[in-house]
Formats: sequence, C-alpha cells, structure tokens
Amino acid sequence: MQPCATLNASKANFDAIYDQPDPRGYFSVLGALDYMIPDVAAPVIRQILQARQKRSGHPPTVLDVGCSYGINAVVHRFPLSFRHLRLRYANPEMAAVDPEALAQFDRHYYGSWPHIGAARFVGLDVSAPAVRYAASVGLLDAGVIGNFETDAPRPEDRRALHEVDVVLSTGCIGYVTEKTFAAILDSMDRPPWVVSFALRMFPYKAIAAVFAERGLVTEKLAGATFVQRRFRDLTEFSNCLATLEKLGLDTAGLEAEGCFHAELFVSRPREDVAAAPLGRLVTVVSGRNRTVGTRFVRVGRGAAAQVLRVPS
Ligand SMILES: C[S@@+](CC[C@H](N)C(=O)[O-])C[C@H]1O[C@@H](n2cnc3c(N)ncnc32)[C@H](O)[C@@H]1O
Repeated sequence: MQPCATLNASKANFDAIYDQPDPRGYFSVLGALDYMIPDVAAPVIRQILQARQKRSGHPPTVLDVGCSYGINAVVHRFPLSFRHLRLRYANPEMAAVDPEALAQFDRHYYGSWPHIGAARFVGLDVSAPAVRYAASVGLLDAGVIGNFETDAPRPEDRRALHEVDVVLSTGCIGYVTEKTFAAILDSMDRPPWVVSFALRMFPYKAIAAVFAERGLVTEKLAGATFVQRRFRDLTEFSNCLATLEKLGLDTAGLEAEGCFHAELFVSRPREDVAAAPLGRLVTVVSGRNRTVGTRFVRVGRGAAAQVLRVPS
C-alpha cells in the first residue's frame, strides 16, 4: 500500500493558506473551490454529538484534529456555516483591515450569536497562527499546537486531551495518519468516539487498526459519500482518479464528476456499537445514494424532455 505522503502528493498543496494570522486566505482559496465538507458533514456530526450527549448526560468535549481556524467549532457552536463565513470574508471592506482588527471584529461577531451548545471544542493543528486565531476569537476552549506525526504530545497537550469525548476530523486525514491518532488515544484517560470524514483516496485501514488495538470498533457509513470540494485543476483531477483506480475503487458518479468525495468512519467501544450501530445512529437526509426503489428522472429540456424510469 502507498504511504499517505505519496497519496497526499496527488492533492494540490495549500500549506500557505493554513499558516496565516487570520482565515481570509483560507476562505478565499478553498471557498473558490467550493470547499464544503464542514457544512455537508454538519447534520451527521450533530446527530453523533447528540447521541454521545445522551449517553454521557452532558454536552461532549470535541477534539477537532486539524482544526485550522476553528471552522467545525463555528458550525457546531453557532447557527453559522462555512458558506456564511466565506461571504463575510469576501467583503472588500473586510479584506482591507489588518489581522488584529479582524480578530477583534470576529470576537464580537461570534459573541453576538446564540450558542447552539452542541459541544465544547479543543483544537489541534500544526499551524500555530491558525490555532492562536481560533482561541483568540473565542472558538476554542483549548488549543493544542503540535504535529503528532513527528513529535510526542507534551504534558500540557495531554492535559488538554484528558477530558475529550469525541475526536473529530474533516479534511485532515492524509495530513495526519495512524501515528497522530495513536498519540491522541494514548493521551486520553477514557475511550472516545472517533468521527472521521476521510477522502476515499486515503485508505483508513491502518487508522482503524490503531483503534482496534485500543478496544474501539470502526464502522463505515454505508451508502453515502460526502463532497469535500471541486478539483483545483486537471492535474489534481487526473492524479486523484489514477490513485483511486490503483486502489481498485470505481470513480463513476463520484470523483469522475469533478469533486473529491469523503466517507464517514466512526469508531466506538464495542458496547456502544452493539447498543446502536452507526446506520441507526445517523440518517443522511440529503444523500442521493440512499434512495431505495424506482426513481423517475427527467432528461433534457422543453419539448424534447423525456421522463425515464430508473430501477434501483
Ligand atoms: C484542509 S484543512 C481542514 C481544516 C478544517 N478541519 C476544515 O475542514 O475546514 C487541513 C488542516 O490540517 C492541518 N494539518 C496538516 N498537518 C497536520 C498535522 N500533522 N497535525 C495536525 N494538523 C495538521 C493544516 O494545518 C490544516 O489546518
């Protein structure tokens, strides 16, 4: 199997926008590529957080792995989305202010929305400016700056991870591997639920093995994929399709239509899986792949339109 670093080379490099003092570059560049995974994943994540809260009796503490500027915290703490923020930062007046003034505006902005209260957030990211921004505008209860691919968690990192109930990641598998997840789990004093949205081009087997060694059972949500973003250019498109084909995966109707697709993996203690398997825990309301039975489809426009009956 190819290592993640090799697979990651099939994707465009966005390091420059991950490491800025504020999120404007992130929303401008990824927004222009219709990056949407935090929003597309949100209804599913919300159902999982609710299930976890029901089990433990309190709103869960989430560790957002690769938290960047705190986007998942925004989406699950406030009635806001990636799309809202993209519009906010695209405003020409917003583009003109300096990073300190922007952070002050953002502190007030988040302070002016009612909390949904779905979770508390601890953020982990290798980018110090991103974590500092997210903490400074009030999105994170705690921020961990670190790269557990190469370095062991420090005592203060372990303390921040102690209370975590749910380990979440969107758009980060590939940058992080089983090494990061092993370091996280070994820093915790109780088994978490782990919720990962992983691009299909990054095999999840080695990560699931790390969880199995620590007593967690991994399920993949059947019958649904989640669009992450459009391909940046022809090179990225061709590389991704070639990678998936090498892995023996059919791209028809998915990546071949022009977007990266992620899958949902959830790892939990065996008794929690037995009490409610993943398929019962979450419902994907917007998934076209979840339709069962005959569908009627209109092809073409105007007088030339034809209605076809498509069997499932
Ligand atoms: C595509 S962004 C995803 C951000 C956010 N989760 C979202 O969906 O909008 C990937 C993030 O992974 C972070 N990252 C890359 N390598 C990492 C590592 N070894 N440990 C933690 N974070 C890492 C990057 O700094 C960046 O913020």
